[in-house]
This record gives sequence, C-alpha cells and structure tokens, in this order.
Amino acid sequence: MELHLTLDGSQDLAGQLYRQLRVAILDGRLAAGDRLPSMRFLAVRLQVSRKTVGEAYERLAAEGFLQGKVGSGTYVSARLAAVERPRPAAAALRANPHWRAIAADWQPFLQQAQRYSFAGGTTDKRRFPFDAWRACVQRALRLQARSPAFYAEPLGDPELRLAIARYLAINRAVRCDWNDILVSQGAQQALDLLARVLLEPGDLAVVEEPGYPPARAIFSAAGARVLGVPVDAEGLRVDLLPAQARLVYVTPSHQFPLGQPMSLQRRLELLEWARGRQVLIIEDDYDGEYRFDGRPLESLQNLDSEGRVAYVGTFSKTLFPELRLGYLLMPPALRRELTAAKSLADRHSASLQQLALAHFISSGAFAKHTRRLQREYAQRRQHLLARLCGDLGGWLEPLPSVAGMHLAARLRQPLDTRRLCARLAERGLLLGDLASFYAEGPAMAGLLFGFGAIETADIDPALDILRELLSQG
Ligand SMILES: Cc1ncc(COP(=O)(O)O)c(C=O)c1O
Repeated sequence: MELHLTLDGSQDLAGQLYRQLRVAILDGRLAAGDRLPSMRFLAVRLQVSRKTVGEAYERLAAEGFLQGKVGSGTYVSARLAAVERPRPAAAALRANPHWRAIAADWQPFLQQAQRYSFAGGTTDKRRFPFDAWRACVQRALRLQARSPAFYAEPLGDPELRLAIARYLAINRAVRCDWNDILVSQGAQQALDLLARVLLEPGDLAVVEEPGYPPARAIFSAAGARVLGVPVDAEGLRVDLLPAQARLVYVTPSHQFPLGQPMSLQRRLELLEWARGRQVLIIEDDYDGEYRFDGRPLESLQNLDSEGRVAYVGTFSKTLFPELRLGYLLMPPALRRELTAAKSLADRHSASLQQLALAHFISSGAFAKHTRRLQREYAQRRQHLLARLCGDLGGWLEPLPSVAGMHLAARLRQPLDTRRLCARLAERGLLLGDLASFYAEGPAMAGLLFGFGAIETADIDPALDILRELLSQG
C-alpha cells in the first residue's frame, strides 16, 4: 500500500510525521498488523534524518500504536483491531429539511425470510431458467468486450428497446415506437423520472387509495402534495378527481393492492376528464402479464389520443426484482426532458444486463419462462381461491381480480389485522395487511396473498396456520 506522507518546512518534522501516521492508523488506512516502511527507507524517501523517523516511531510505539518485532520491522499494533475508531462529528453535515422529513417517514421494504411467504412483489426464482440467462449474460459479455469503452445511450440499448416494443405490441395491446421506450432501473425509477420532469413544488399528484406506497412517496419526494382518491369496484373514482391535479397515477390492469381491473368505462371517463387539462396520467402495468380470466382491456395508453399517458412496466414480476430492470413508454411531449433526467440520474442502466435481457427476449426464453410461470401461478391462484372460498370463507371474502400475482381478501368481521399478521409471522407465515396500503381514509380490514414465492404444496399448511389463528378470534 502506498502511504501518502508529506512534510512541510523544516520545523518539528518528527511531530508532523507522528501526527500523520497516527491519523492514518486511526482512520484505518493503516490497519492492525500492517508493516510500516523501514526507518531507513522512510528517511531517504522524505529526505529527513533517520533519527527524525525514529522519534516519530518511538512516540507511536510508546502510545501503543506500533510495535516492533525483532528482526522483522515495525508493525501497527495488533491490539488496535478492537479499538473503536472515532467517527466524524455528526453535526458537521445535515441533509435538507425536505429529505430529513422523507427519511423519517420512509422505511425501505426488506423482506423477512419466513417458512411460508405470501409476500407481494416476489417471484419464483426457483423456476427462473438460470442456464438460459447465463448464456445470455455470456453473450452480452462478448459483445461488451468488443464495444468502445464509453458510456452507452441514456435511453437504453436499442436492441432491448426494440424487443420491449414488440413484446408490448403483442402481449399488452400497447402500440409504440421503440424510440419512445426508456429502459429504467425498475418501475420505481420511471416514476421518479416522470415526477422530476413534470412536477413543481406544491403541485398536486393523485394516487389511488388504497395504493402503492413507493409511488406516493416518490411524488412527495419530488415536492408534490399527494392526494389519495378512493377506488371502487371499477377502479379510480374519476368523479372525485380534483381539477388542479397535475399527475394521476393508476394501476388499471390489477389495482394495487385490491386487484380489480379498471373498467373500460372508467378508463374512458378518466381520459375524458383529463381532456384539455395539463395533466399526466401514469399507467403502471406492473404485473398484467399474468392473466387468468377474460381478455385484457385496452390499455389507457392505447385509448389515449392526446399523448398524455406514460406507460410504465417492469421485469421485476416476470424475472426478479433484484435485476432492477423496467421501462417507460414516454409521452412524446416529455421525451427530451426524460432523456436528460435519465442521463443525469445514472447515465444509463447497466449495459450488461440490458444486452443479456435483449437476447433473453429475442431468443424466446422470456416468453417460454412467462408461459411456464403463468401455468404455475394459475395453479397456485386456483388453490388459494378454493381455500379462501371454502373452509376460510366464513372469515374471508376474496376480492375479484383477473390478473397479477396477488389476491386480496376482505375480512368479514373487523379484526386487528396488524396484530393478526404479527402473530402469523411468529408462526412462520408472512401475509400482507391491507391496512398498510391506506394512507388517508379508514382501511378495509383484509389480507393480501402474494403467490409469487409460495409453492403450491405449501399453500395448505400455510392456510391451516391462518385458519387456526382466525378461529381463535
Ligand atoms: C404497483 C407496483 N408497481 C411497480 C412495482 C415494481 O416496482 P419495481 O419495478 O421498481 O421493482 C410493484 C412491485 O411490487 C408494484 O406493486
């Protein structure tokens, strides 16, 4: 290791050397057991006498920072490993009040490991075709080795954007030009970029109530006032939308968390309400690729004739969330600003993953994987529904949904769901509490059953635990 030491002038040279070595030891640049340069070497290097170096070393040794080993040199004392290193004073830096308030409120969601997990937002990694993925990553590495060592396009790899555009046209009835696709770090970054380029401090952003907490939080972090507008069986209550809203965020394929699709009528009402207003509609189609009933309704993006819908999608549900890959179909009017915002946020998403995913899609591996998971999830959902409508039907009523990777169920009798979920966790079962998705009004007492992670065979024993606790009241 190269230790940077400089001496200034000719005064107190041993003292200067002592202080610099002491700081280097305290802040960890010199660790316990590290060997120091010999006195002779350091004296020549710093153009001082050997005596000067010797004085500094002796003082550090006397204070316990160094120890000499006969015949083999001077070392940082091994005993220092246990010494607490002083931390910089906390008062020296302070985040701004806006972010202090956000950080006080926001808890990053980290999943607990449990024996049985109905956690939402989790996919089945055991069934992910890692061999096919590995081949795609290897191919991507070969491509990368041949490309110039420079930044890539902010909007993402063209091959991937083309693959996404084709996928959207075929599977989601979303017609688009691949040039309008931005590859993001998951849906969350797409929401962040949209909020940044659109909202001014104090603007009103509307989210669904109940709704997706990270969306609410990111709009608020952009300085917006956030208002939750209730949903009913047809989706967002368009009749309750405030005239001043600048942004409306919806989950039309599979309302998060309740699950109902937004009716066609309601989609048309929303677009009609927006007509002539300065308002952006964000359509978050986070898990619509898994459909279990009926035909998909036309996307808001496709119904829109004014270019005001931003369509957001993610690979967190089809592949897995750690990949951090998603996309945004940009409204043409915001294209320039979104490109700049993405470039400034992180230059572009990681190329290796993008190239690998492009090939994963174009080789057919992605479609094969999602078809396989569709069958698997259909089975789990069926099994879950049979129990929820069967022996658990006295307590729970599943809410209607036709797509996605979770089901919500209302409790027929009000119950302290927070306590229930805590007790279930003690028994090794992770279940979502619907109340945690309400930010404003009174919550519906209910539970959220994600079926991305749980094996079909585990559904019965998990629900038996739930039944046991429900029957205890
Ligand atoms: C409503 C909603 N949107 C988006 C996402 C996915 O977010 P990301 O792509 O950032 O992982 C989720 C994940 O659970 C979600 O529930």
